[in-house]
Amino acid sequence: MSTFPIASARLPNHVGSARSSIVRAGAKPSTQCPVTRFLRWWSLPKWMGFAPQPTADEFPELPLEPNSPDPQRATATRSFLEEVQGNILSTHHRGDCVGLWLFAFAHPKAHAANCAVVNAAAGRVTSAWEQYTIPREQSVRSLLFTGSGLLACGALGRADGSGSFPPDLTFWLRGGMIQRTELKAWMHDPVDSKNRPTTWEEHYTGSFDGAWLVSAPTLSDLETRLREVREWAEPLGLKHVEYEQGRVWRPGSAPVDDGAHPRKKPPAREPFGYVDGISTQHFFPLGRQNPHLLSTELDDVFLDGALNRLHRGGSFMVLRKLEQNVRAFREHQQTSGQSAADNIIGRTPDGTPLAAMGRHPNDFDFSNDESGSLCPFSAHIRRANPRKVRSESFFKQFFRFLGGTPKPEPELHLVRRGVVYGSDQDLQNPAGVTDKVGLLFMAYMSNLDTFRVLQGNWFRLSNFPVGNQPENVGDALIYGLPKTDTRPARGWITPKGGAYLYVPSLPWLRNLKPETGQP
Ligand code: HEM
Repeated sequence: MSTFPIASARLPNHVGSARSSIVRAGAKPSTQCPVTRFLRWWSLPKWMGFAPQPTADEFPELPLEPNSPDPQRATATRSFLEEVQGNILSTHHRGDCVGLWLFAFAHPKAHAANCAVVNAAAGRVTSAWEQYTIPREQSVRSLLFTGSGLLACGALGRADGSGSFPPDLTFWLRGGMIQRTELKAWMHDPVDSKNRPTTWEEHYTGSFDGAWLVSAPTLSDLETRLREVREWAEPLGLKHVEYEQGRVWRPGSAPVDDGAHPRKKPPAREPFGYVDGISTQHFFPLGRQNPHLLSTELDDVFLDGALNRLHRGGSFMVLRKLEQNVRAFREHQQTSGQSAADNIIGRTPDGTPLAAMGRHPNDFDFSNDESGSLCPFSAHIRRANPRKVRSESFFKQFFRFLGGTPKPEPELHLVRRGVVYGSDQDLQNPAGVTDKVGLLFMAYMSNLDTFRVLQGNWFRLSNFPVGNQPENVGDALIYGLPKTDTRPARGWITPKGGAYLYVPSLPWLRNLKPETGQP
């Protein structure tokens, strides 16, 4: 079996200490040998594993410290936070309810009018800086566009790539996730003879142009806030398509406050009952930063300004509505045992990784489990993030560093911000529930390839790379079964829809120009 597409197109460009420059560019050419640099410069095709040559556009240093005593660092961080939309660097401020208002432009060809709506909307979008400074309970609003939404503003380049997005992105955005190649080659969603998805909800199969993502303390508050956005936007020319409502689901006892410690909420879980979000990255506030951010850097999440200064700080979001058949999962748990169920996820329900861990449940890798005896290679978290599998000697690491050679295991370069959907009642009593609860999977990344490769290859190929060598490690059971598979797990997750969305920077929203439709 061919192995080339396994590695992420965003091959790790993180090599050792070169990450720690005060203001960093997208990559570290200084750590690469001249040949590697030359090849990168020529931007060899992605399937060969070379990312395009990044530019010298700068992102602030991590950790983000807008209150740093170093005024230069503080200013750079603050101005960056003012440019990017909320919800990307940290989950929505919220009492844990998050909704999407999917909309369409009433007049898709009226580019100038649509640009004017976008300019006006900029004032209603919460920047990361506002999210950083407002109380956690307050709402965060983001604005995202599908390819058809960008077309309606004239902001998506023509097929010849002369627009403000690069040609490959233009292609994916223009056709969206629903296009045949995406569904068949990458998502592997069930399709009919005409390559239309058979399980998707109607509003995902038609076209919607964008979404307002809104958070609120309670579901009823969320409804009010979504309605407010809609009441503001409809007179300006946005049409209602659908609402999606989700929440961070925290079953279990009420928060405890023992006086000595801050009030602790029960952990968030996904509908199968496993603690979720353990490995989700928060870049702020500092106290909430995940101590094990893994390898995620700002250029994994945000576009730099190489293409156009106003794209700097923009991001892409992948949205997937994934229905979970909780009853079937529970039956499997009962008939095959708890550990069989845990093997599917790679963690126990309380989040403990099956491979040994350090002090934090995200502080582990698989270097003590090269054979997959502790955590099977097919486990969801092992597929989704292979981490380190083989220990390397100091010399091997050193020579790899000198050569600019990537780490043997593919690295994960996205941040997840998903929430659960379904009524309280269905989530609490899942015994009879087969089709009403699931995950609104949302993830931000600077390159859509990250998701496509993860979904299409890491989750699906049985020859999965382990320490640079593809090994036959079996199929991932959660969200990765081949069409021919007849095991019951095949029916556990049903894709109900999905979209690729562009999440522009605030300057982009403000400056989108009516005349050309390009910022
Ligand atoms: C309904 C389907 C899904 C369920 C039930 C599910 C469940 C889980 C659970 C329980 C965890 C462990 C908690 C954590 O590490 O934070 C996890 C982690 C993760 N999931 Fe999923 N997930 C689903 C779909 C997806 C999809 C579609 C993707 C991406 C294409 C994905 C990517 C990840 C990643 C990247 C991690 C973190 C792995 C790590 O860093 O160790 N998941 N998921």
